[in-house]
Amino acid sequence: MTAPFVTFEGIEGSGKTTQILRLSGYLAGKGISHRVTREPGGTPLADEIRSLLLSQREEFVFPETELLLYEAARAQHVRSVILPSLSSGQAVLCDRFYDATSAYQGFSRNIDAARIDWLNDLASGGVSPDLTLLLDVPPADGFARIRGRGTRPDRIESESVEFHGKVREGYLRLLERHPGRIVRIDGTLPADDVFRRVRETVSARLGW
Ligand SMILES: Nc1ncnc2c1ncn2[C@@H]1O[C@H](COP(=O)(O)OP(=O)(O)OP(=O)(O)O)[C@@H](O)[C@H]1O
Ligand SMILES: [Mg+2]
Repeated sequence: MTAPFVTFEGIEGSGKTTQILRLSGYLAGKGISHRVTREPGGTPLADEIRSLLLSQREEFVFPETELLLYEAARAQHVRSVILPSLSSGQAVLCDRFYDATSAYQGFSRNIDAARIDWLNDLASGGVSPDLTLLLDVPPADGFARIRGRGTRPDRIESESVEFHGKVREGYLRLLERHPGRIVRIDGTLPADDVFRRVRETVSARLGW
């Protein structure tokens, strides 16, 4: 039996990194073996692809180019990190996974959903999250938080509020499509309240 695979999703600034780190601390306290990773990235090659994707550039990046780079990074990450961890009994907490591709490149950039599903399946080698926590916030809230972070916005963060609104809508569609796997958590609540819900959900779903 393989260990649980949990993914965190949501628009920029929705609190994914904050919550994944809190869950990791909580699991460590309980002695539950796990690994924290993120997409795009998670291996040296996939991290290089991440820089290609997120750096600001003069050249226009076509949606299909972006899609294939995300999937290339995922193919490497799944095979070198996620699958080996899960098969050795170590749970994996991943900051974004293939739902992000469906929401960003599918819903927001308008690439056909069936093609995305096919590529997601190829890249993920059949690995599917046992549980996906969707931190739901309106784009204006996410933007305000990112501005508060004081770092220069990356290429995706620099997209319009409309773009991020479509991403959020895409995530909510995915929630309708996979109600058994994806759990929506109100990400506008204070971080402690969000974390209480994260804990309740992983306890109910995974016995953690
Ligand atoms: N529930 C919350 N309420 C208010 N602020 C929050 C909350 N959760 C996180 N923050 C703050 O908002 C900012 C964004 O949070 P975080 O980096 O966790 O989001 P993220 O979803 O990982 O963003 P990105 O997609 O850019 O990686 C941080 O400065 C964080 O401290
Ligand atoms: Mg983050």
